[in-house]
Amino acid sequence: MTNLTVAQLLKSQPLEDVEIKGWVRTFRAKRFVALNDGSTLNNIQCVVDFENTDEDTLKRITTGAAVSIKGELIESQGKGQSVEIVVSKLKILGDSDPETYPIQPKKHSFEFLRENAHLRTRTNTFSAVMRLRSSLSFAIHKYFNENGFNYMHTPIITASDAEGAGETFRVSTLDQKNPPLNDDGSVNHNEDFFGKETNLTVSGQLEAETFAMSLGKVYTFGPTFRAENSNTSRHLSEFWMIEPEVAFMDLAGNMDLAEDFMKSVIAYVLEHNKEDIAFLDKRLLDEEKTKPQAERSELSLTEKLTFVTENNFKRVSYTEAIDILRNSKPNKKKKFNYIIEEWGADLQSEHERFLVEKHFKCPVILFDYPADIKAFYMRLNEDEKTVRAMDILFPGIGEIVGGSQREERLDVLKEKMAALNIPEEELWWYLDLRKYGTAVHSGFGLGFERLVMFVTGMTNIRDVIPYPRTPQNAEF
Ligand code: 4AD
Ligand code: MG
Repeated sequence: MTNLTVAQLLKSQPLEDVEIKGWVRTFRAKRFVALNDGSTLNNIQCVVDFENTDEDTLKRITTGAAVSIKGELIESQGKGQSVEIVVSKLKILGDSDPETYPIQPKKHSFEFLRENAHLRTRTNTFSAVMRLRSSLSFAIHKYFNENGFNYMHTPIITASDAEGAGETFRVSTLDQKNPPLNDDGSVNHNEDFFGKETNLTVSGQLEAETFAMSLGKVYTFGPTFRAENSNTSRHLSEFWMIEPEVAFMDLAGNMDLAEDFMKSVIAYVLEHNKEDIAFLDKRLLDEEKTKPQAERSELSLTEKLTFVTENNFKRVSYTEAIDILRNSKPNKKKKFNYIIEEWGADLQSEHERFLVEKHFKCPVILFDYPADIKAFYMRLNEDEKTVRAMDILFPGIGEIVGGSQREERLDVLKEKMAALNIPEEELWWYLDLRKYGTAVHSGFGLGFERLVMFVTGMTNIRDVIPYPRTPQNAEF
């Protein structure tokens, strides 16, 4: 008796005794069970000898039921599959009431499936997305492992707000109704669990820098948390971020690394997840057909992915980008929600997408941003106006990577922190890196879900993470 997965059975030669467990997708003509066990998009057809199976068992073979099947794997008699199982024994492991089971064999809206996120991975689309998510994680670790990086686990609870955006979730065990107070009426965090104010991390970067300055090449891959109240299709309150950090590497090296890394992980899934990508490709094509001609994408999903792996990312300075945007049609015709008037303006996703999708028509790396719109730790350029920042913009996504060369000069960093009211006591250890053996170093952060969106062609970030956390929503 062989215990193979559906994925393995579908590639197998005929076998006399097989046993397979899975969930019924459909049961047709009292005879054909389409069985799925999650190992592949495809179901295996199991042919039931209904004349010799009792009526009660036949009734219990319903969509969603868990069953165990024993039988013989033979070359398929019908069309649509190469092999099938002639069932000798079928056992119902877990019933699924067809009256109430939410995942019926028909098209469900993504909104409905989000409400049933605990069952949505029983659909083709979501199982394909999750297999790709898993495969991408593996490709990421593989890339760094093969390139001499050490995987570091940075803390989830921290006392710093790395990005300085003030969008953190507080971690506290104080009595919310009756917290200890200071004389001035503010909450006394000395009495809190950690003896100070703490929050969930928004980025592992600052700690990753400490490891880059000792181990040379490191990366983190962990959950990050942001309490920004943006209810968009590209923002999550809890998302996963990949953050490499490398000593003795400047911004140009950082761009090279990011580009090579992105191409490599996308190439990995193109090679290893062909079936899932082909399925999602077709799904996207159907979705595109519902849009007006002008809004349809010119490229299929596979073409988009191949385009990224085969073409150079366009490197453009912020200043050049502002010129392009200022003179662009949507800016002149006031079609943008935010009209670009002056150098120094922060770019909105509509601008990023214009650059990528309309102007350059390829992934773009924007660099040398105004210091005022970027985080405190970025390396100040000679012009004293711009910093060595880089954002990578992808079609359909906008910003997918944000990174920079870090300010390695103690005096410049201290000045910057003072200007932004960041107390030195809070980041004494970060400043120490600039005191003892400081060196040029750089890194970036890739938003994992944005990468999964790009690779799967899904257009809402809530559909590429198992259980999305967004404002007003933490179900499951
Ligand atoms: O640009 P960000 O804020 O950069 C950092 O956090 C740096 N510390 C990274 C570094 O240099 N080590 O975030 C990095 C990426 C963004 O480009 C985006 O892809 C993703 O993280 N991201 C989000 N993804 C989903 N939901 C959100 N709310 C996100 N905020 C950022
Ligand atoms: Mg950013």
